[in-house]
Amino acid sequence: MTELNETSFKETVDEIVANHHSFLRRELPKVTELMEAITHDIDGEPFAEAKQLFAKVRNKIEAHLKDEESFLFPTGIALETGSQLPECEIDLLERLAEMEKEHDGCGNALTTVSGMIEKLPESDLKVQLLAKIKLVQNDLDVHVEKENSGVHPRFLELFKTKPQKQ
Ligand SMILES: [Fe+2]
Ligand SMILES: [Fe+2]
Repeated sequence: MTELNETSFKETVDEIVANHHSFLRRELPKVTELMEAITHDIDGEPFAEAKQLFAKVRNKIEAHLKDEESFLFPTGIALETGSQLPECEIDLLERLAEMEKEHDGCGNALTTVSGMIEKLPESDLKVQLLAKIKLVQNDLDVHVEKENSGVHPRFLELFKTKPQKQ
């Protein structure tokens, strides 16, 4: 049960999915597109590395969002509302710990990618790409803060009430 004036787990995660997850799904492909556009102009070794690193981060973020939306968030909502728990094929506590590491890791990896892009010769595309990555990082900071300080502790509390399997 939630106390009066306390935002429910469902309200919190619904807002995160609507604002931050949809933001990432919209903006990450745009970063990839900009990176592709630059590759056609410049064929440098450091840039190939930046492209590879970004592709890795994007995959990690997309898998992370999927696990939150498929398992973590629905389980928290079900525990909060007392409804039937969704089928879950992963160890949620283990995944939650891993997700906290990914929250830091993805932001740091994006900083590394930007550092690599900085080394490219000046161009409009470079400016656009750096600005886009900065936009993603700024939103990610807000998103991660909401999850680390709100969603995760609340999930752990709710998880303690989880009925044991027979
Ligand atoms: Fe998230
Ligand atoms: Fe997350």
